[in-house]
Order: sequence, then structure tokens, then C-alpha cells
Amino acid sequence: MQKIKAYVATHQQRFLDELFELLRYPSVSADPKYKDDVSRTAAFVAQKLRDAGADNVEVCPTAGHPIVYGEKIIDPDRPTVLVYGHYDVQPPDPLELWETPPFEPTVRDGKIFARGACDDKGQFYMHIKALELMEATGTLACNIKFMIEGEEEVGSDHLGEFVKANTERLAADIVLISDTAMISLDTPSLETGLRGLSYLEVEVTGPNRDLHSGVYGGAVANPATVLAKLIASLHDADNRIAIPGFYDDVVALTDAERKALNEAPFDEAEYKKDLGIDALWGEKGYTTIERTGIRPTLEVNGIWGGYIGEGAKTVLPSKAHAKISMRLVPNQDSHAITELFVKHFERIAPDYVKVKVTPHHGGEPAVTPTDSRAYRAAEKAIETAFGKKPIPTRGGGSIPIVSLFEKVLGLKTVLMGFGLDSDNLHSPNEKYDIANYLKGIETIPLFHKYFAALD
Ligand code: BES
Ligand code: MN
Ligand code: MN
Repeated sequence: MQKIKAYVATHQQRFLDELFELLRYPSVSADPKYKDDVSRTAAFVAQKLRDAGADNVEVCPTAGHPIVYGEKIIDPDRPTVLVYGHYDVQPPDPLELWETPPFEPTVRDGKIFARGACDDKGQFYMHIKALELMEATGTLACNIKFMIEGEEEVGSDHLGEFVKANTERLAADIVLISDTAMISLDTPSLETGLRGLSYLEVEVTGPNRDLHSGVYGGAVANPATVLAKLIASLHDADNRIAIPGFYDDVVALTDAERKALNEAPFDEAEYKKDLGIDALWGEKGYTTIERTGIRPTLEVNGIWGGYIGEGAKTVLPSKAHAKISMRLVPNQDSHAITELFVKHFERIAPDYVKVKVTPHHGGEPAVTPTDSRAYRAAEKAIETAFGKKPIPTRGGGSIPIVSLFEKVLGLKTVLMGFGLDSDNLHSPNEKYDIANYLKGIETIPLFHKYFAALD
């Protein structure tokens, strides 16, 4: 631990400078306008892997954005850790809400502000620096493989194909991912599950063209009003999702499991204050921790239609739209849920409109075992680095690739994330605390050490 701390202390400014360089690449996977920037980011990541001592580094093209692969095989008899991360980021807009530009990393109050600072550049880069550290100090204990993709934020469309075509190359004993959050540096935690996702878009069409709202309003249904009513009907009075069959496959936790989950510290007043709200909302009968961790949800991500420009325009729109996502928990299946939604939405549509539902990407929920060697190694690494044993928590976000690793490679995952829920992921002013970044670089080599030792 002393050796690790000393190395990080000596090189911390360079570790930061390199991360800043990575953060300056606008690797927005969703927007074709950034395609070349995304490729340049992949090349940069590949170079940094080589610099850190990785072998067989390759930028692997896909039908979408490239995947960066690299490895350090020290001994085929040692265990192998497959590190997964993503170098792509969410679009930065709304730009005007950023205090400093999203692709000009800026430090304020010990925090790095930039798009991707936490999700996931700051987090996967810790693994590259940990490799450098282990190489330099001669402390590599496991073989390491890196697979850093560029399409996570748009549904990892081409990753499945790559994994299936490279099962030999990706063979490992465990997948290690830093792309989740912990409670705080004072209260370290390990996520033991992720929710699945079904994402779709709905379109409600009324008349065949926009109409003068004075001439036709009152006689013709307004698709925006109809859409609002349809959406409102998707939750019942207890804030449960009112789609028949939606909860059929949900695994209920035992009272003991729920009790353990709720033992994690949670300050409701602080939570509300941070978000600027006076009251919380959610499914009746569940705590906030449960609502965001072990219960499925349905959210409107965007809603539009009619006139939304400056000033007023009296119009009865022909169409209204919404993007809707559902977070899923074990054992819900994203395809089955998508189908339930489509059927339900078509059934409840009144005859004065037509509805069209277009599914986008999806992903399956995942739980990671807490009695495995890998989990114990992560627990011990955090305990050593932080001086406290981590609390197991269930994360609300989704990393669809986790269930794919299990299906295709037969591999379990450890979610050793160092972000915070308050890091503004997908939001303006995304940040990552320098302290979390450096602590992560200290913790990762310990994981490798204990994973090998507990073998
Ligand atoms: N890193 C997040 C997932 C995450 C965030 C997990 C916080 C746990 C805590 C990831 O990059 C992400 O944003 N995933 C998307 C899903 C994807 C299919 C677009 C998500 O959760 O919305
Ligand atoms: Mn992420
Ligand atoms: Mn994300």
C-alpha cells in the first residue's frame, strides 16, 4: 500500500494532465457530427494503453464506433481480469447551463468538471494508470485485458457481435468495471446490481395536418392533450406502473434483503435540498433506496409536439411525441416488457388518434454475487484503501453489457465504481472529484493483488 501511495503521489499531476487531455476529445457517440472525434479518441486511448505497458493493443473497427483492445499477459496460469469501460460520452447540451465548457476540463473545489469526467473517461482511465503503476512497481498479479468501447451511451449496438467473435481473446476469470457510483469517500460502497432498460418512442397522430386552433379546436382531438392523458394513465394512484403484466416477473426481495439494503445511510433532507425539491415521489410501500434500486420504473425522457418556438402560434398540432424508458429489475426481460408496452399503448389509444410505438435499445438487469472471490477481493481492496468495508448497494442505472458478458462469455462482473450519484452524469456540469480519481488508482492494484491471492 505504501508503494502504491508513493507512486500515485509522485505522478498525480501527470495522471490528471493525461485525463484532461482525454476529456478534451468530444467523443459524443450519439451525434454523427462527432464521428471523427470519436475515432480520434479511440486512437488516443490505444496509445495510452501502449504507453502504460499493454501489449497487442488494437483499435478494432465495428459497423459503428471502434472498440479499443489491449492486454498484459504475465503468466497464463495466473487469473485474468477483463476491464470494460467506455470512452464515448453523452451529448453535452444544454450547453448554456455549463459553468465552464464541457470539453475544456476545469478544476473547481477539487472537482474536475467536463463531459465524461465521471462517465466514464475518468473511471476507465484509472485502470490504465493502475496498469502503469503495477508495471512500474513490478506488482502485476493478474493478467489484464482491456475492452474500451465507444457506443455505450447509445446502446452498445456492435459490442455483442464483437464479443461473440472474440470469445478466445476475451477469455477471463472476471469482468471488472468502474462505471457506477459509491455513496461517498467516507462511506464506500459496491454496487451489486444494475437495472435493465426498455427504451421506446411514441407518436400520436390526430388530423392529417396542423390546424388553426380556432377553426377546428373543440371539434378535433388534440394529439398533445391525448398524449398527455395517455402518459398520465401509465401510473396508478399508488405510482405503480399501470401496464397489465408489468410486474409479473419482478423478483420480490426477502424482508431480510430489504432490511439490509435500507441500512445504507440516506439523508432525505440532504437529498431533497441537493435537488431543489420539497417532497419526494414514488411507488407506494417502498423507500427511496428501494425505488431507485430494486423496483422497476417508467419515465418520460422527452415530450414534444406543436409549436415550441418564440411567442405564440395558435395551432392544433397534427402530431405529438414522447420518448419513454422503463428501468427493469430481475427477472424482467426487456423484449417482453417492450412488447407489453406496445400492446397496452395501442389498446388504450382512443379512436380519434392513431399511435405508433417505435422501440429503441434495451438491456437486461443484472445482479452480481457477493459471495464470490472477486467480490471479496473488491471488498478487501476498498477496505484497505479506504479504511472501511464497503456497503453493498443496488444501482439504478444500466450497463446492458453486463448481462451479455454472462451470457456469451460466462463471466460474472464486479462493479467497482468510484463516482458519486451527485456527479451530474448525463447532465450539465458533470464532474469527478480528484480525490475519487486518485483513490481509484490506489484501489485497483489492490483488487488485482487480492484477486490473485484469494485464488
Ligand atoms: N455509467 C452509466 C450507468 C450507471 C450510472 C450505472 C450510475 C450505475 C450508476 C452508463 O454510462 C449509462 O448511462 N447507461 C445508460 C444505459 C445505456 C443503454 C444508454 C443508462 O443507465 O441510462
Ligand atoms: Mn457509463
Ligand atoms: Mn452514461
